[in-house]
This record gives sequence, C-alpha cells and structure tokens, in this order.
Amino acid sequence: MGHTAQPCIVPAVPVHLVQHPVTQDAVTYLRDKSTTASRFRRLAHRVSLILAIEATRKLPMTLARVETPLEQARGEVLDANVVVVPVLRAGLGMLDAVLALVPHARVGHIGLQRDEMTAVASQYYAKFPARLASSFVLMIDPMLATGGSAVMALDLLSRAGASAVRVICIVAAPEGVAAVQRHHPGVSIYTPVVDRSLDERKFIVPGLGDFGDRLYGTVES
Ligand code: PRP
Ligand code: URA
Repeated sequence: MGHTAQPCIVPAVPVHLVQHPVTQDAVTYLRDKSTTASRFRRLAHRVSLILAIEATRKLPMTLARVETPLEQARGEVLDANVVVVPVLRAGLGMLDAVLALVPHARVGHIGLQRDEMTAVASQYYAKFPARLASSFVLMIDPMLATGGSAVMALDLLSRAGASAVRVICIVAAPEGVAAVQRHHPGVSIYTPVVDRSLDERKFIVPGLGDFGDRLYGTVES
C-alpha cells in the first residue's frame, strides 16, 4: 500500500460522516486490492460496528430501576423495536456487527442485484419482520453508488410501513447520496467516506471494487 491521494470528501452532502480513526484505517485497508477475503470480512465487521454505534445514538430509552448488590439505582434501558435489514448479498457482511451491538434486533432481508451492463438493480427477494411501522430500521448495504439499489430498498421498506429508517454504508458516492436525498429526504445516511464519483461502469472511484465479490472471494484478482 502506498501513501497516495486521499479520497475526495464532500462536506456539503447531507450525510453523517463517521470519521473515527478506526473507521478510516479500516476503509483504507478495505480499499487495498491486496487485502484477502478473510481480512476484508474482519475489516468490514470492524467498520460496521462503529457505524452502527453512531447510527443508534438516538435510540429511544426508558427509565428503569435496578437493585445493585448495595442499593437501588436508577438507569435507562433501550426501549425500541430495532429491525436491521441487510441488502443481499454484500449487506450480509455488516450484519453480525450490527447484531453484536443490538442483539435483540429482528432481521429483514432485501435481495437486489445490479445488472452488470446497465448497473440497474432488480429485486429477487424481500422479507420483513412484523411491526415495521413502529420499529427503528437500520438498512445496511456497504456500497451506495448510483443509489438505485438504496432507493429501491427504501421504496420496499416504505411500502411495508417503515418510517424511521437509517442507511449505513461503508463507501458512498455523491450520486448515490443525492439519489437517496431526492427520493427519501427523511432518511439519514451514515458513512465513513463519500468518494469522488462513479466511473463509466458505475463503480465508485476510488472505491474498493465489488464489495460482494471481495467479501466472498467470488472473483480472483
Ligand atoms: C452492490 C452493493 C449495492 C449496489 C450499489 O450490490 O452492495 O447493493 O451494488 O450500487 P447502486 O448504488 O449503483 O445500486 P450488487 O448489485 O453488486 O449485488 P451483490 O451485493 O450481490 O454483490
Ligand atoms: N457495487 C460495488 O460493490 N461496488 C461499486 O463500486 C459499485 C457498486
């Protein structure tokens, strides 16, 4: 890995940029084309955990009393139905980290696949837990490129009744951020980085390549 130009960060776009030193370190090694699939998975887990911590800062709480071994204490406990929705397949690489943070979360799934020629996403699966309307929903998909997949996934969630939705991704492009903001202006995006742009194949540049392929080792470099 060399010491070259930093990715372009676009401060004007309305995203929550999570610039923790550990996330920046992990994203840099995720970008590195020599990173193996097993290390890629560990890095994805690490950065997802920090992103999930940031995205859950406003989870509803309720007051509680507990008996310590010494006396009664007041505290707060989580008071939210949390639903985490990975967008298959790459989103699965973030799921364990979110569940490590919020173990009681229920899990929905959305299956989307971008056409390799047109970069247009199509749906092949969707299944959600009950009570989405009263749930705090975390949609996880590591790459926000054109935004076509995210908008389609958010449309599905909205039709299923979800209203409080946050999107967590690992690399975003300005085009994807703009698409989400245009179609779902109430949705917050949490990402460590907004890259420069898309290339002619609609891949994020500098990006990290095809996240799903690198996560699962489906394409040898
Ligand atoms: C990737 C990624 C997003 C989508 C982003 O998935 O995980 O879902 O592309 O691109 P977009 O913003 O231009 O829609 P892909 O369709 O490659 O499927 P995979 O997760 O099965 O690899
Ligand atoms: N999907 C990916 O995995 N990477 C990109 O750069 C764009 C879409």
